[in-house]
Amino acid sequence: MKRISLALLCMMISLFRVSAEEGMLIPSVIKAFEDDMRAMGMKLSAEDIYSVNKSSMKDAIMHFGGGCTAELVSDRGLLLTNHHCGYSQVQSHSSLENDYIKYGFWAKTLAEELANPSLTAARIVRIEDMTKAVFFGTQGLSGQAYDDKVKSNIKTLIEDATRGTHYEASIKPFNYGNEYYMIVQEVFKDVRLVGAPPSSVGKFGGDTDNWVWPRHTGDFSVFRIYAGPNNMPAEYSPSNQPYKPLHFFPVSVKDRVPGEFTMVYGFPGTTEQHLSSEHLRYIMDTERPARIAMRQESLSVIDASMRSSDLLRIKYASKQASIANGWKKWIGQIGGLQTVNAIQIKLDREKIYLDMANSKPEWKLKYGGVIEEMNKIVALYKGSDFAYGMAIEYMYVGAESFKRARGIEKFMDEFESYLDKDDLSKAIEDLRKDAKGFFKDYDEMTDRKIFVKTTEEYIRRMEKNGMSDLLKSKSAEEWANDIYSNSVLTNEARFDAFLNRLNDSTLSHFVASDPAYLLWKGMSADLYENVIPQVRLFNGLMDQQLKVYVEGKLEMFPKDKHWADANSTLRITYGKLEGSAPHDGMAYTEHTTLRGILDKNNTGEADFELLPDFRALAESKDYDGYDQDGELWVCFTGSNHTTGGNSGSPVIDAEGNLMGLNFDRSWESTMSDFMFDADRCRNITVDIRYVLWIMDKYAGATNLVDEMTLVKGKKKKKKKCRKSKC
Ligand code: ARG
Ligand code: GLU
Repeated sequence: MKRISLALLCMMISLFRVSAEEGMLIPSVIKAFEDDMRAMGMKLSAEDIYSVNKSSMKDAIMHFGGGCTAELVSDRGLLLTNHHCGYSQVQSHSSLENDYIKYGFWAKTLAEELANPSLTAARIVRIEDMTKAVFFGTQGLSGQAYDDKVKSNIKTLIEDATRGTHYEASIKPFNYGNEYYMIVQEVFKDVRLVGAPPSSVGKFGGDTDNWVWPRHTGDFSVFRIYAGPNNMPAEYSPSNQPYKPLHFFPVSVKDRVPGEFTMVYGFPGTTEQHLSSEHLRYIMDTERPARIAMRQESLSVIDASMRSSDLLRIKYASKQASIANGWKKWIGQIGGLQTVNAIQIKLDREKIYLDMANSKPEWKLKYGGVIEEMNKIVALYKGSDFAYGMAIEYMYVGAESFKRARGIEKFMDEFESYLDKDDLSKAIEDLRKDAKGFFKDYDEMTDRKIFVKTTEEYIRRMEKNGMSDLLKSKSAEEWANDIYSNSVLTNEARFDAFLNRLNDSTLSHFVASDPAYLLWKGMSADLYENVIPQVRLFNGLMDQQLKVYVEGKLEMFPKDKHWADANSTLRITYGKLEGSAPHDGMAYTEHTTLRGILDKNNTGEADFELLPDFRALAESKDYDGYDQDGELWVCFTGSNHTTGGNSGSPVIDAEGNLMGLNFDRSWESTMSDFMFDADRCRNITVDIRYVLWIMDKYAGATNLVDEMTLVKGKKKKKKKCRKSKC
């Protein structure tokens, strides 16, 4: 009999005693949870969910653009994900003449679907426990020799797994290296935009409602995967055909019942459930507040610019959304962790861990010192970690003059090697193209203001931490005057002129004197030479301790539920359709309706604006059978443990039908990245019936609705009239 890994065994033993909600489970071991899921109402078998022998649900789930999740809903490659996941694609196809952000976009034929260079969708072929194979031959090794052996084992295993196939594979550590799994995937490269609602639907509630319940966001967009000959992944080509999937989700238009089983299947990015108390304290008290403050500065500028003109609104829409998203989540996380007194909970748990370790000499030896060690590592390295976080905020999230400098750096470094004239003109052409894309969504005045504000904040926060002397040599205003009046990187005309007369001498002059370039070079040298090596050390040392700490949890507490932190691999979480009551004297119901959209719109707030035709349709109450008891559900919550990356994930009912698309968590839940609280934590889903109603009644995209398989429930649905047939 195949031997089962220790962790898996622990999971299997303990799983019947614990709450179903916490945890993100690895699909290939879902069999161990089948009974529990069935007890909660699930009608499917583990094989229906994940199988390598036959097509299963996992084949309908795609890792979308490497950061979100998407699911197939037709036999012609139709793919649903969130509006915010497809937002940069919608934005890239938008202009003042074709404002798809504002009015939406709907391809009525395959020919109208829009290509998106570099967008990918990946299907998981299989997930395999490789722990033993990765550790093979490492007995007795330590340090570099051990690392090298593990690395070479991984390399060989990946080569063996992909030889002669078009698949890609990776082997990732789970539980900080207590286990290793191989993920084999098939990556599709021709993914076209099919439809998106107006932002007033897809981003309804904007930042006011982001991370908040009650919610009314129609957060969906529609894509299609195309394949080359033999249904195989291929680069974009007009001759590619819609992909024929192994599985696609039927779509449930049945009535929902509070308490019914729900499951979320997708690619959660990162969770950090095992941080030590001091580590969490540092994040809550120091690191997050500083990063929040940096973003606050950028956002105050961007928000004002976006309000000032339609052009700036379009240019900055996608950037604003991504900066604001992290900013607001962090505020919610800290609030939640403070409310539940997370540090005290950690301390209590650490005491239990330590008491247990001290109860047996061999445990004491292995696990008795690990918590203290983790806290020590935090104390030693938190300065570097802080400098790193601030550098990310300042140089990578803040003013884009840094981004432009990064964009040209490789060219500058390699200039000497362009002896061949053709190579040089090609490199210049690439630069030109890259700059065109950059300046399309850039505004000099906005960037200047962001630069001044974030520089001031950065200097204030880093004063005691040590920072590059170069930056300190001038005030933020002085830097800005120099950079935004003289640098070729911050102005399109100057940049073009620079490229047009590029030669050895103009280039040397640039490298020696361009202020934006010099600042970037100085700051990044500091980051790469002084900060990043320390942060690598920090993470490496901490991961070593986390490996021991988690091993201790698995060994000493076999009856607890254990799950590996999210690491952007495919996971399953299950729970119920349910509301919550995170505040004294207040309860959140489990769903919202179209009526709430009109109520919010009546407040007159900018984030609740609607297009007049949408408002008119909503007021007409023409639900066309997509309603439940006379109300059109818009969003609902569930007790499924999700995180960033789960956006766009299918929320699946007991029979395997699609109920909606996961897109958020409530404000009180965001702490679940560090600590899950079953009473507070809820994921937010846009109901597929609202999605269908938008497509069908608002956008007239009946072609898309017709392409899907609708599963109707007990309730009789009105006979539908289509334009073509009645
Ligand atoms: N909070 C959700 C997530 O983390 C949705 C973000 C998009 N919406 C927004 N208003 N920025 O991705
Ligand atoms: N909106 C998030 C995403 O893009 C999902 C929400 C969450 O973090 O739970 O993945």
